[in-house]
Amino acid sequence: MRRVVFFSALLVAGISSIEAQPVPSLAAVYQPYFPIGAAVEPQTLQTHGDLLAAQVNSLVAENAMKWDHIHPRRGNDSSAYNFSGADAIVAFAQEHGMRVRGHTLIWHQQGPPMVFRGAGGQATRAEVLERMRDHITTLLTRYRGKVYAWDVVNEALADAGAWRTDSPWFQTAGADEDGDGIPDSSVKAFEYARSADPTAKLFYNDYGIEAGDKLERAYNLVKALKQKGLVDGVGIQGHWSIYTPDAGTVRAAIERFASLGVEVQITELDLSVYRWGDTSSLPELRPDLASRQAARYAALFEVFRKEAGKLTGVTFWGVADDETWLDSFPVAGRKDWPLLFGTDHQPKGAFWAVARW
Ligand code: XIL
Repeated sequence: MRRVVFFSALLVAGISSIEAQPVPSLAAVYQPYFPIGAAVEPQTLQTHGDLLAAQVNSLVAENAMKWDHIHPRRGNDSSAYNFSGADAIVAFAQEHGMRVRGHTLIWHQQGPPMVFRGAGGQATRAEVLERMRDHITTLLTRYRGKVYAWDVVNEALADAGAWRTDSPWFQTAGADEDGDGIPDSSVKAFEYARSADPTAKLFYNDYGIEAGDKLERAYNLVKALKQKGLVDGVGIQGHWSIYTPDAGTVRAAIERFASLGVEVQITELDLSVYRWGDTSSLPELRPDLASRQAARYAALFEVFRKEAGKLTGVTFWGVADDETWLDSFPVAGRKDWPLLFGTDHQPKGAFWAVARW
């Protein structure tokens, strides 16, 4: 009887000591490897400030630096811009000794239609390029020395076929007049960025470029930009799931891009618990899916650590499961749990799989 009491006391002590164990800082654990980042909204700095301060040493604006947020009005004087959200994120990063990635200058989404409108309907190529140059120059000048890397062009490649022809940038200024095989809308963006802040690292950022034909097309694009001295890195977004891609595929992609002599970063990491194309919805994170997620995160980070010489950053698209864009994409209103911290901001199994190996 006494023995039973003794053992159950030990068991309770053991369990509570696991629970009480301090949560390590991912940024500190990964100090020898690469910075750990998170995408934030200005509000997240309040609601998730402690978690961010403890866990990451790099920030990116989830939306606040996109054209529609930072440059909502026509023109290029200061009244056309709204820097408040972006400035708050940069200030928080500086206070906490974190670096900042800039996201994103040229993208087919979240750009106000007025940018592409001119006197006679559609703006001319020259008008659009001038607006692009002004926008890029204003942002890179303002954040020079504060934002160390920019996603200059986001998602210029189509999923199938060559370029994303539905992009208003492509439609207005995409014509390849210099004959280098790349739409001028992309090349010019890199040229303007390079001359506005020669100290910033310039990235091409995209999803689905870790495998297949899109990997080859991204490789060729980055190769051509690199030959012109216009690009320093590739951002593999990393909006994946607990099912695909496998870690070996990601490793091969990192090595392939790195063979061009550019940096590679994982820029928007999250692992949905749903298969791509599945529109069902779960009421809660099932334990078997949580385990699968932990195992997949463990395998990916094992590859990331092995590739640390080539990989210069891993950024999560959020920090905790209570704030994730996957609650509205690709199925509106469906709950997802893609990150390392739960809706209660406590570390999930996936966190421990990444922090301890
Ligand atoms: C998403 C944001 O997370 C959402 O809040 C917003 O409504 C739409 O954009 N690829 C990117 C990011 O490069 O900018 C996107 O961010 C997610 C997909």
